Amino acid sequence: MSETRTRASWGAQSHRDEVGQLPSTFPRTMGPSAMAYLQEVVDSGLTVDMVGRFERAFAELHGVKHCIGTPGCTPALAALAAAFDFEPGDEIIVSPITDYGTLQGLVAQDYIPVFADTEPGTVNMSAETIEPLISDRTRAILCVHKTGIPCDMDPILQLAEEHDLFVYEDACQAVLGEYKGRLCGTLADAAGFSFDAEKTMGADMGGCILTDDDDLAERVRFIGQSRGAEMKPGFGRLHVELGYAYRMPQCTAATCLAQLEIIKEQVATIDRVVRLMTELIDEIPGITPLPIPDYCTVYSSWMFGLSIDPEQFTCTADEFGAQLAEEGIPGAGTARYYLMPEACTFLQRWAEEKTWPYSMPPASREYSYGEQTCPTAHDFLDTWIRWSTICEKYTEDDCYLAARIVRDVAERNRR
Ligand SMILES: Cc1ncc(COP(=O)(O)O)c(C=O)c1O
Repeated sequence: MSETRTRASWGAQSHRDEVGQLPSTFPRTMGPSAMAYLQEVVDSGLTVDMVGRFERAFAELHGVKHCIGTPGCTPALAALAAAFDFEPGDEIIVSPITDYGTLQGLVAQDYIPVFADTEPGTVNMSAETIEPLISDRTRAILCVHKTGIPCDMDPILQLAEEHDLFVYEDACQAVLGEYKGRLCGTLADAAGFSFDAEKTMGADMGGCILTDDDDLAERVRFIGQSRGAEMKPGFGRLHVELGYAYRMPQCTAATCLAQLEIIKEQVATIDRVVRLMTELIDEIPGITPLPIPDYCTVYSSWMFGLSIDPEQFTCTADEFGAQLAEEGIPGAGTARYYLMPEACTFLQRWAEEKTWPYSMPPASREYSYGEQTCPTAHDFLDTWIRWSTICEKYTEDDCYLAARIVRDVAERNRR
């Protein structure tokens, strides 16, 4: 008999029960051309190259040579991992506060995730937290720009150069965000994006890879789209590699293209409102909004986060979050599940049982995954509250309302 469990939900469904006084991402603002592009796909009998059109537009917007459309960021990062020529048991250093989609592909290729702790008070890892973890097995660093705040990339790139490591970005939460005036997703050797329904450029499901590397782009297309098959005259498809069907569907491309036409303006609005809200909430004693580093020149946020100082309040962070939600901030709450070394319980099981690739050899060290793996990130998430419905619908008045709600809840629970 199978055990009863509650399956995880996603997209609009996961926000279904949220109500509040503040705007919500859903129903999404759709680019005005969405229906026309979808119609084109249908009218053409699927012959239109909507995927190519989206890929060219996204690449051009970023000033990057190659954009490869995928069904999401999970498959985008999986296609990249499959295209690497690393060996099973090789290590990839990765941000600990993220989504499962960051990890799935590299784990599936039998690479070992090594989680670098976050910088205190932030959601991102840094060169300082990465450096001690570099070993003779390290091949790459995967940086997640969590909540849209870019990692401090220059020191990370410098460190990677010294150790000859590949650096790539999970730019899912930072579409059109900027680091020192450079667009997220163009800061390293390659990047993955998500256009899932909840993201800043929400287009149901969808994603892509950006890279300037011709060989990598060709390998990703060959393995991820052509399923590792080349055409042999007189025979047909010859599968010379283990390939995957990570193709972006035409209808997804149509929606993504339409969303792309409105995203710049939306991100500009989001950048303004999040900065204002950060300023207002920063004035409340005992509450610390996520700091926005000076190098973050455009903050493409989809999530607002704040930490509470437990010494100053009589309630727990969970109770504080629940009260924010009751008072009208849709979906406000803690998010401990973002801590991947703790959330991916199978990793600890594999490491403990020495399942391949944790068996010895090839891995040359002991691995362990849990809340103790990244104590700074764990402690941070314990008192961090977020809501992931920041969007272009926020007005200045909404920022003042959000700050007032936070202040009211803080005063009600102040010690
Ligand atoms: C940081 C990050 N990486 C990867 C993913 C996975 O993206 P997708 O749902 O497009 O596969 C998400 C989605 O929540 C994400 O936030």
